[in-house]
Amino acid sequence: MIVPGSFPTTRLRRNRRDDWNRRLVAESRLGPEDLILPVFVVEGENRREPVASMPGIDRLSCDLLVDAVGEALGLRIPAIAIFPEVDPALKTPDAAEAVNPENLVCRAIRAVKSGHPDMGIVCDAALDPFNSDGHDGIVRDGEILNDESVEVLCRQSVVQADAGCEVIAPSDMMDGRVGAIRKALDEAGHGGVRIMSYAAKYASAFYGPFRDAIGSKAALKGDKKTYQMDPANSDEAIREVALDLAEGADMVMVKPGLPYLDIVRRVKTEFGVPTFAYQVSGEYAMLKGAVRNGWLDNDKVVLESLMAFKRAGADGILTYLAVEAAKLLKSG
Ligand code: PBG
Repeated sequence: MIVPGSFPTTRLRRNRRDDWNRRLVAESRLGPEDLILPVFVVEGENRREPVASMPGIDRLSCDLLVDAVGEALGLRIPAIAIFPEVDPALKTPDAAEAVNPENLVCRAIRAVKSGHPDMGIVCDAALDPFNSDGHDGIVRDGEILNDESVEVLCRQSVVQADAGCEVIAPSDMMDGRVGAIRKALDEAGHGGVRIMSYAAKYASAFYGPFRDAIGSKAALKGDKKTYQMDPANSDEAIREVALDLAEGADMVMVKPGLPYLDIVRRVKTEFGVPTFAYQVSGEYAMLKGAVRNGWLDNDKVVLESLMAFKRAGADGILTYLAVEAAKLLKSG
């Protein structure tokens, strides 16, 4: 970049002198419409269970979820992402509950849609909440099977779309799943259902609290390194995104968020497509842990961490901070 001007005629601090001036020259903006709220849903009625490793986050029964969605909608948050904590008795090696049209996710989708039809709904295509092995795909003899898993993911996507979910978010990292899910959705008459692909999803330790929240940690045997990406890789993320776009992804995602903003920037620059990032459970836990100890200023770090995503090029952010951030943005 050619920098016109030099000190002392040029003084960059001039544009930082006043609040109005800083606002005038701000390069990125953060608004509630940038945020997708992930929610945890649990069986029962009038149930609210705190997630110990995510202070401030609760698993909600469907009725309470509808109320929470009403609040988010009032704050102009455009979409939620639903994650179920499934009864361990329903978890099997074939993850059959994932394709049950009456499963917890499908009931949650229908409850939200009937209460708040204007709220967008995103649902994972992944088997981990339903799989007694805790993996995103079907496991046989210790191996996570690719093509067999994709078949189940297609059926899972269709039942979720049947229930009213508008965005399927394949988070399983099986090869070829985006194209297969696109075809399955189209054949089932869901040509308008969008795919937000977890295209560059890393095998990250930052997912720990999420696995507590949905109860998959106890079930998980081994790790996810044979399908999720190696944190050492960046070029590979570009190949993953390219393949998913070629297979029909409407939007792509990078996950985790803050530690992977270099990937967000590369993806946005290289492809110029709707690009999302997931500020994951461990990032939330880190931030809240420090806040609880009085080491960080909550409101300031909430907004700064989210602005960092926008600056990196993210069009939107999946974040557990969505509601509190939207309130802070509103109050000014
Ligand atoms: C499941 C899934 C995970 C997350 C979203 N979908 C966990 C994992 O892959 O183990 C993580 C979200 C978070 O940590 O907040 N495939």
